[in-house]
Amino acid sequence: MQDLNELKEVISQIKEEITGGIGSLENSKAVYEFKKNFLDSKNGKISALMKEMRNIPNEQKANFGKGVNELKAWAAEKFDEIDAALKAKEATARYEKEKIDVTMPAVKTKKGNLHPVTQIRNELIDIFASMGFDVFEGSEIETDYYNFTALNTPADHPARDMQDTFYLSPEFLLRTQTSAGQIHVMEAKKPPIKILSPGKVFRSDDDATHSPMFTQMEGLVVDKGITLCDLQGMLNTLVQKIFGADTTTRFRPSYFPFTEPSVEVDVSCFECKGKGCRLCKGTGWIEVLGAGVVNRKVLANCDINPDEYSGFAFGIGIERLAMLKYGINNIKMLYESDLRVLEQINDN
Ligand code: DAH
Repeated sequence: MQDLNELKEVISQIKEEITGGIGSLENSKAVYEFKKNFLDSKNGKISALMKEMRNIPNEQKANFGKGVNELKAWAAEKFDEIDAALKAKEATARYEKEKIDVTMPAVKTKKGNLHPVTQIRNELIDIFASMGFDVFEGSEIETDYYNFTALNTPADHPARDMQDTFYLSPEFLLRTQTSAGQIHVMEAKKPPIKILSPGKVFRSDDDATHSPMFTQMEGLVVDKGITLCDLQGMLNTLVQKIFGADTTTRFRPSYFPFTEPSVEVDVSCFECKGKGCRLCKGTGWIEVLGAGVVNRKVLANCDINPDEYSGFAFGIGIERLAMLKYGINNIKMLYESDLRVLEQINDN
């Protein structure tokens, strides 16, 4: 380049090139790339103009520099403008895309809930805890001694046939009843005792109302002067909390080796209020648990003096309560994890 006139021409060419090119830029990245053609300090066309300074006659140098700087400022402004405009456009497009219609009805989410057996188990624990019971969870593998012998059911006892047992070896078995927990507790602690022992139990039994694995809740109270009346008083409170204030209990004589006397406990039917319906098979009563006064032999097996102390015990089948509460007639429905069933028995 020789002089100012030539510079003017180049300036107007560059301006045209910029104005012409800017219109087709679509985003700020393209602006950045396009801008480099002119303002990049190494290869930019405008930056290169400065290097021409040495060929310009001295008296024109000042004006030449001014002209190039003005062009530089003009170009920078153009690029800033287009960049700002494109950024604003991009933001608007993004806002548009991310727009939320707050008046739209919410998408319904499915809320999970605890399994009905767990719900009833927790409900029972809450009720008993409020009456001062502690919780003892035994183990699912037991010895024959804790599951049977110590509970006054020695090897040749006919009552062993009441429960079809899964033996793991002659000594070990899958516990058939949470009653095994009674022995562990009484061995470890002297009266007063007030415990609740929830857990899974196992029996080789399988039909619509029996499952090889089910859940029980054992209760045990041992102290001085405990009688069957204490048991009934406590059970009445319990069933009223679960089934409603007008529910009562009825004791029928029964047999369990570890209690004497033993009773089968019925509650007045909460469905028909005792008039007789399908649920209570027309009797007005529903059997809910087994109980009794702790057999003197069981206390003695645990080194508790039966002349000094007495107690009561009870065992509740949790699945049975769940089936009654939710009107389920096949116990398997509680284990199949069929959402159509579980959703219907969701209290929440
Ligand atoms: N263990 C008994 C069963 O599984 C239930 C039971 C009955 C537990 C009477 C008790 C009781 O503690 O006193 O059939």
